[in-house]
Amino acid sequence: MSKEKKQVTWGGRFSEQPDALMQVFGESVSFDMRLAPYDLKGSLGHASMLAHVGLLTKEEYNAIEKGIHELFEEIKKDSFSWKLELEDVHMNLEQALRAKTEAADKLHTGRSRNDQVATDMRLFFKDACLQVKTGLEGVMLSMLDLAKRYASLPIPGYTHLQRAQPVTVGHHLLAYIEGFGRDHERFSHVADHANVCPLGSGAIAGSTLPLDREFAAKALGFVDEDGNPRITPNGMDAVADRDLFIEFASACSTSALHLSRLAEDLILWNSTEFGFVELPDSFTTGSSLMPQKKNPDSFELIRGKTGRIIGNLTNLMVTIKGLPLTYNRDLQEDKPPVFDSLDQLSQCLAVASGCIASANFKEDKCRAAASDPLLLATDLADYLVEAGVAFRQAHHVVGSLVALSEEKKVSLPDLSDDDVLGICDKLKDDWREVFDLDRAFAKREKPGMPGPNQIASRIQFWENILQA
Ligand code: ARG
Repeated sequence: MSKEKKQVTWGGRFSEQPDALMQVFGESVSFDMRLAPYDLKGSLGHASMLAHVGLLTKEEYNAIEKGIHELFEEIKKDSFSWKLELEDVHMNLEQALRAKTEAADKLHTGRSRNDQVATDMRLFFKDACLQVKTGLEGVMLSMLDLAKRYASLPIPGYTHLQRAQPVTVGHHLLAYIEGFGRDHERFSHVADHANVCPLGSGAIAGSTLPLDREFAAKALGFVDEDGNPRITPNGMDAVADRDLFIEFASACSTSALHLSRLAEDLILWNSTEFGFVELPDSFTTGSSLMPQKKNPDSFELIRGKTGRIIGNLTNLMVTIKGLPLTYNRDLQEDKPPVFDSLDQLSQCLAVASGCIASANFKEDKCRAAASDPLLLATDLADYLVEAGVAFRQAHHVVGSLVALSEEKKVSLPDLSDDDVLGICDKLKDDWREVFDLDRAFAKREKPGMPGPNQIASRIQFWENILQA
């Protein structure tokens, strides 16, 4: 390799070009090119600050601004030619700007790629959080629509995957909507944490030049609700820390976990054994061998991709774990897991939303399963409590009634009055009324319970939020 062709940005002290293998090994442009719009925006903000403090003339700034706008267009049109030997997005764009104007030689004044990439990623995270929040809203709207359609359709609620107590489809789906609502809030927090400007940290210790950090922060929109600039308070922290990456990847994991559990419920409900739900043809697939099959692949893939998204979080934490302050090249590996989590989660959200929007519940199957009187065994214990029996004894009495019904091979309400009175004389003529599902739901009208008014008010609550 020729000794004259030095690395343009940092090659001054080197007498040889990097080995071809090292170039391929060390490059990040293949994946950090997606930061280009943020890098250009960051450079524009930095340049405007340099002009403001007199480190760029008006003409130099104008030339840089014009060049950056041209680069924006080239990136948008996909006509920019990326060069592997320029390592990363930052050096590619700086050199492309240099080809347009000599003033580009001044752009890196008072800046390092360390605070530059930290700035790019903070701008990226602000957009990424918005994107995920929009995706979450899509799922919540689809879920809400389904919850409204089947607000009062009874199904068994499960613990240990055993029938526990009756709930309604509305109540069950609202449980997930609550979780997605918290996810939405979580991404707002991540976006708020991202909203702090690292520019001016330089490599680690800032610069001797008269930089105006507040000006750059304002130019880039790193401001609080009153428009005051928000800047990082420690340069070493600003270039070395990656807790924001972990927060983002963790918020992605939590949302994916919610989706994955929803997916599992739907996969079970879609099985012949449960038969509660019918998924649309458009989000299911067939078998290459068995003609009768209609598989819930969309939800299986969501469940599968959740593993990958959690893996990305683990990947980041392990990468960062042993690094001394401050920047180490290991940190270049911080971007692929974050990008992947965003991309995969966004797809999962879109697919879940699309599939749920066209799902239908099979009302007769749901009602048949929910008519199991044992789902109301606890309500019978409550009946006894209202008749003055201590709960522990009431629990025991109902347990004995269940055992007797199994022994006699009849369902619980079909036990004779004599049988029942033989176990507990507090059971009056009306004891079988407990097995009326409408009564069971009507008696559950405290917040958080599946009473019809509770469900209606929670549906209204989310409708107001999502349609605002
Ligand atoms: N491509 C690099 C990364 O993403 C940019 C920062 C390089 N900084 C440095 N000191 N080598 O980590």
